[in-house]
Formats: sequence, structure tokens, C-alpha cells
Amino acid sequence: MLLCLPFSNAVAQKQTETAKMNAFISGLMKKMTVDEKIGQLNLVTGGMAITGSVTNNGISDGVKKGAIGGIFGLYGTDNVRKMQEAAVKGTRLHIPLIFGLDVIHGHRTIFPIPLGMSTTWDLALIEQAAHIAAKEATAEGLNWVFSPMVDIARDARWGRISEGSGEDPWYGGKVAAAMVKGYQGTSMKNADAVMACVKHFALYGGAEAGREYNTVDMSRLSMYNYYLPPYKAALEAGAGSFMSSFNVVDGVPATANKWLLTDLLRKQWGFKGFVVSDYTSLNEVSNHGLGDLQTVSALALKAGLDMDMVGEGFLTTLKKSLQQGKVTQAEIDMACRRVLEAKYKLGLFDNPYKSIDPQREKTEIMTEANRKAARITAEHSFVLLKNANQILPLKKSGGSIALVGPLADNKRDMLGTWVIGGEWEKSVSVIEGIKHIVGDNVKINYARGSNITDDATFMKRLNFGPGMVWLDKQSPEDMIEDAVKAAKKSDIIVAVVGESQSMSGESSSRSDISIPESQQLMLKALAKLGKPIVIVLFNGRPLTLTWENDNAAAILNVWAPGTEAGNAIAEVLFGNYNPSGKLTTTFPRSVGQIPLYYNHLNTGRPYSTGPTKFKSNYLDISNDPLYPFGYGLSYTSFGYSNITLNKTKLKGNETLTATVTVTNKGPYAGEEVVQLYISDPAASISRPVKELKDFQKINLQAGEQKQVTFKITPQQLKFYNSQLKYDWEAGEFIVQIGTSSADTKNAKVQWAK
Ligand code: BGC
Repeated sequence: MLLCLPFSNAVAQKQTETAKMNAFISGLMKKMTVDEKIGQLNLVTGGMAITGSVTNNGISDGVKKGAIGGIFGLYGTDNVRKMQEAAVKGTRLHIPLIFGLDVIHGHRTIFPIPLGMSTTWDLALIEQAAHIAAKEATAEGLNWVFSPMVDIARDARWGRISEGSGEDPWYGGKVAAAMVKGYQGTSMKNADAVMACVKHFALYGGAEAGREYNTVDMSRLSMYNYYLPPYKAALEAGAGSFMSSFNVVDGVPATANKWLLTDLLRKQWGFKGFVVSDYTSLNEVSNHGLGDLQTVSALALKAGLDMDMVGEGFLTTLKKSLQQGKVTQAEIDMACRRVLEAKYKLGLFDNPYKSIDPQREKTEIMTEANRKAARITAEHSFVLLKNANQILPLKKSGGSIALVGPLADNKRDMLGTWVIGGEWEKSVSVIEGIKHIVGDNVKINYARGSNITDDATFMKRLNFGPGMVWLDKQSPEDMIEDAVKAAKKSDIIVAVVGESQSMSGESSSRSDISIPESQQLMLKALAKLGKPIVIVLFNGRPLTLTWENDNAAAILNVWAPGTEAGNAIAEVLFGNYNPSGKLTTTFPRSVGQIPLYYNHLNTGRPYSTGPTKFKSNYLDISNDPLYPFGYGLSYTSFGYSNITLNKTKLKGNETLTATVTVTNKGPYAGEEVVQLYISDPAASISRPVKELKDFQKINLQAGEQKQVTFKITPQQLKFYNSQLKYDWEAGEFIVQIGTSSADTKNAKVQWAK
């Protein structure tokens, strides 16, 4: 009884707070006109970040008229204060605005792209990154971020795979929750907390053919078991808002989908916050074929959409729809209430200027501590894909290195996609990072070696912003010749190659996911010299790397590491940090294998090894990925004992413990991500060949051993069955523990109900 008291106190306190909020908002809404209520549903862009063709003009006037509820893409305390004053002092009811921005992997101090953050497998680092982003964003007057992006993606052609946490629903949920906690802190009322916005609801990552904004068509089983869990996890972590996605869900655009926004999100999952559309996604419902702007705006409101981003569909049509009986006053009120509640939860009615503090703006942005956190996160995000003959780490003194490639002396591309507040001039290039570590102790022979791409059409598409990708004055042949000359003078070649900033992210689908040809030609010319090549690979997605895997001595996958890129890369290349990142997406051998993911179902004719007639495989390629989910090497090596179980026959709610001993068998201290997978070989529906259920990241000195124990309960065996009931089924389970999804020790148990 005593134990229950604090809990019931907390519940009672929450109820009182909710009652207070409800009374305040009801009082306010009584005074509001229909126009003022509709104004709250209108989100406009301040123009500092635009991803569509429509923008908003005359924002100040709109604010003063009460026709705007929030602004995004506007930051800096001066800018924000002006608008907030216009709303608070210049309107009849003094309702504050909410200020949002795409703060995706840091605001000013840029952390690794989200896909890179996920490969750290370090939830504390991820939460810290989100918290630092929130601190910097609030220091510039913001109080709402359009993150986390939790869309599961199994298709590396899709450019936005870079913005999420990969292909695993359980791990995706863990990362989503860590980010929400980092952004929102202990209370959204805190001056350094922002409201999270979970996007893109829902299933956006399932776009057919990996083509941006394309149709999504999937079974309810796939939705519930594989695509929806991270959104739900973010909600359970307390996320204050959701963003609807561009795609259709079961044929109905998400933005106007009642099943999605009301039946699932609010009724089944109990979401209490507000839903904003994506950028003009409300207007785009017309292109999906559901009617004109008035019709689709009414549909979306009725479906559960509360705020309209940029397109002004709500602003320009809802009043007319109300007069014509196409929407009700109660429906408008409900949306308005949810937007006002968000402002209340952020503490904006108490103090609309709570995070408009020029002092914080001066002292809390891009601090040494923030940059250090970004560097450490980046180091943890790198995935060592190959390291033949222990070529890495490199020696810090003696010898010479040919440093080549279009990303070696480059600041712009260090940051990756979605860096609206990021200043690329302040990022550390790879050559700078290397010089910080080795000074003059190692001779560095630099040559650019190739352009990012020589393809003019491709370049034009990449250059949606000024000067993003450029052609060298030298011809491609001369550039390669320079790289070869630098390599001839050197003991080892470090080639910094891959994707530039604008090659992944929104509207950056690719049908060929290899390193661009210009860079491959350089690598092939260098390979002829027979000297060891270390590839430092920049990428916003899994790339096809079969040639590189066959010909390079080492490949260090660094994604886009952010502001501290060069320093982080140098720390790892020279062994100050031993890489520990593990993939959260499968790397295919060929684009023809896509979608390729580890938690696939078995077929009736499973593949074993090599193409065999009348099996589920290809004539021309194996089914296996080049690098599987969970894979990543270290400068040391780890040995796994067999699994010890506390029992092999269990019943009901018993707990299974599975233990392995992990040994650091190499010469360096290192971290290892010990992964637990379970498979359920006989069930009422076909189940994935294995599913990630838990992991532990451990640190081992050279020669050290540690026991790692996982506790497993029936909760982890649950799945949605064909009646969409979430439950577990008795039978045999195979517990698998190991270093990647493709390399585990296995043990069987029987679990009865
Ligand atoms: C993107 C969203 C983003 C929004 C606002 C859209 O194009 O899909 O992820 O939050 O723009 O910038």
C-alpha cells in the first residue's frame, strides 16, 4: 500500500494539472471567434527552410490578424521576439505562437545524421544529442522540433533512409524514445526543452521502389508488426505532436486518413497531443484524387488533422465548410483545443518569451562541450566494414599517406542532410582533423583526385542550393593523375569518397546506390598501384560496395558525421578511439536485391547457400547481403562462448535468462554490441527468421572477459496475429546471441502457456 502512494500522488497531480489546463483553455476558447480558432490551425513558414513550391507571404499581418497559430523556419531571438510580440501584444486575445524548425541531428552543432546516430547503439549518447539540440534550438527562440523521424526503411534507394534509425522496429522504437526524452526533458515547460514532433505518420518509409513521395501499400500485419512500433514507442515516451506523412495508407492519404489519425493514433494508442500535416500535404490530398481543397480540408479536419503546414487549406476553406454544414463547430474546436493545449504544455501562456533569451543565444550555442559531444557521438557512429591485415589503426608518426578524394578537403559535405541551422564553414574537414592528430609526424600528400560526380545532369539535381557540388578546374583525367602521383610518393592511400550532402535526404532517391563513377575511376586507378587503400566512406544510405570490398584494404563507414567530422575520423583512423558502430540497415550486394532486410519471413522454398534451381533465389547473385544488420568490426576481436540458459522448458510468465561470456581476444580495448535475437519457428502466422529483442553495449580491455546476461519474458515473444491480437504463442523458440544478425550462438527452449 505504502509503495503505491507516490504513484497515486503523481496520478492525482497530473489529473489536477489537466483539469487546470482544461479550465484555462475552455475559458479562452469561449472568447474566440471562429476566425481566431481557424487561425490557430494555420502553420506558416518563415522562409528560412523550404521544401516545397508554396511559401507564405505577409506573415506579420497574418499574426496580427490572429490568422496564424505557429511559424516554422524562423529562428534567432530577434526574429522570434518580433513575431511573438506581434502575437502577444498585437492580438485581441494575446495567444502566443509556437515556433518550430527541422532540428534533425543538432541545431547549430551538428551531430551525425540520424542513421549514423542509430549505429552507435548508445541510447544515452542519442538522448544527449537530442538534449543538446534542444538547448541550442531554445537558445534561438524555438520551442518545437520536427523530429524524431521514425520511419522504418528497408529500401536504400530511398534518400530519407538517412533520417531514420534503419530497418528494425524494436530498436527504432528505442531510439525514438531516447530522442523524445532528450528533446522534451523532464518538463516541456523548462526553458531548454522543446516539443518533439514524431514523423512521418505513417509508413512513409515503405514507398514503392524507394521513390520519394510514392505509393505505400502494405498489409495490416506488416504495419503492426514492422512499421508502426517506433511511432508507438515515441508516443509512449510522451511525444507532444505528430506529423502526418505524404503517402497513402490503405488508399487514403495519411493527412486525411481517419483510421490512422483517429482510430489508431488516438483511440487505440491514446495519443493526447496534436497532429500537423507535412509541408502542403493537405493540398496534395487533391493530387491523390480526393477532391478540391475545400473538400480535402474538411476531410482532413474530420480525420483528426489539427494543424495545416503552409498550404492554407484550413485557413481559406474551413469557415465556408462550417457555414455549409460540411464540418462542425465541435470539429474545429477540437483541433483548436489541441493546438492551444500544446502551447499550454510548453508553458507559453505563462511566459511566451520563456526561451527568447539573447544571453543564452550568445553563450549556449556551439560551445566546446557541445562540439565535444558531437565528436564523441560521431566516433561511436562509425562502422568498420573491412580491416584486412589490421591495416587500421594507422601509425601516428613516420611514413606517408596519400590523402585523396573529393570529400577529403571538404567542409560542406561533413554535415549531411537537414542542417538548417548548421554552418558548414565551421565544420572540421578530414584533412584538418588528420593534421590535428599527426601534425608533421606523418607526411600527407593530398590530391582531390575526382569530382563528386562528373555527370552534369546529376550535378544539376544535387545543386538545389548554391555551390553544393562543383567541378574542378582540372579535367577528370588530370585529377586522377594527381591522385596517382600522390599515391606513388606514399606508403598508404586514404581515399575519402562517397555521397555528398545532397545525395541523400528528402527527394534524393537513387536507382544506382554505388559510389559515383568519377570517384570509382579514381579508386580503380589507385588500386592498380598495389598499395593498401583505406576507404573513408561518406554515405546517407547503404551503398553497393562489392568492388570496394574486394579491392580496398579497409573501409570505415562514417555516414555524414557532422560539425566535428574531421576530428572524429582522425581519432578513429589513428586509434585514439576503437570503432564500435554496428549497422542498423542491411547493405545489399546489388540494388536488384532490394528490399533486403534481416527480419524477413521464410519462404516455402528457403535458400541455403548459393543459387539452386527451384529455390527462392536469383540466377545471378546470392541472397546474402554484403554486410548484414548488426555487423561492424573493431580493431580488436571478440569471442563468444556458447549460451547458458537457466532452463530449457518454461511455462507462463517465467523469466528465461540467457548468458554468454564475451572475450576481448585482441590487442586493443574495445566496445562490443552484444545482440539478442529470437526466432519463433512454428506459429499461427509466418514469423520472421529472427528478430532483435535486446542488446548490451559493453567495454572490454584487451584480454578481458565479461558475462552478458539477457532476461527474456513472454512479453518479448509477442506479435500481432492475423486477428491483430498482440500475444505470444506457446512452442519452441531459438535464442540467438552474437556479434551481428548473421553470426550468433544459438540455443533452443520450449515455452508452454
Ligand atoms: C518534410 C518534413 C519536414 C517539413 C518541414 C517536409 O518536406 O517531409 O520532414 O519536417 O518539410 O520542413
